[in-house]
Amino acid sequence: MSIPKNHYFNPTPEVASKPHTVRLRAGALDLELQADRGVFGARRIDLGTLTLLKEAPAPPAEGDILDLGAGYGPIAIALAKASPKARIWAVDVNERALELSRTNAEAAGAANVTVAAPDEVPDGVRFAAIYSNPPVRVGKAAMHEILDRWLDRLAPAGAAYLVVQRNLGSDSLAAWLAASGRDVDRLKSKKGYRILRVRAA
Ligand SMILES: C[S@@+](CC[C@H](N)C(=O)[O-])C[C@H]1O[C@@H](n2cnc3c(N)ncnc32)[C@H](O)[C@@H]1O
Repeated sequence: MSIPKNHYFNPTPEVASKPHTVRLRAGALDLELQADRGVFGARRIDLGTLTLLKEAPAPPAEGDILDLGAGYGPIAIALAKASPKARIWAVDVNERALELSRTNAEAAGAANVTVAAPDEVPDGVRFAAIYSNPPVRVGKAAMHEILDRWLDRLAPAGAAYLVVQRNLGSDSLAAWLAASGRDVDRLKSKKGYRILRVRAA
């Protein structure tokens, strides 16, 4: 697939960098994070992300937890703060996003966040949970490929929580997940977003 130059999932954004601060407020969490052009949610924390943080169940206290498509890190950092003994993997393909995630995790004192490109996560790692505001804009086929790759790495008792806008195909995604043999249910529906829970097969 050819990647549009200035889309947020371009590995090397060509739009000039212009970092600025966004505020993440969810529950007890109140943090300032660095965002930038060429990275998803550059202007403010995405409403889907906030919905996931407010509505999904708390993360497991321990184990490896994945933020799939971490952007500049709001979900990963919130997970790290909620579960300081867990290891949070903040995975993305966008190099500018990865750099911001690193800076933001460090500034937030979230030492349990490991920022990584997809191929840098060791094959043996299994996730106690996955939280994701997935990159629906990459297109269906590419997104299914991404989800197949990571959902298969859930630990046996693990669950994934995916937030997807209803208008951007949450129901067809749920149908595809079920058709591919996964145990999926619609956990919440709020402000035009759905949170899908996918349990290990
Ligand atoms: C909807 S954004 C969510 C970003 C961030 N979690 C947030 O809530 O602001 C999805 C992210 O997935 C990333 N992404 C795209 N393709 C990916 C892939 N193959 N593997 C991992 N992340 C990917 C994009 O670069 C983007 O940062």
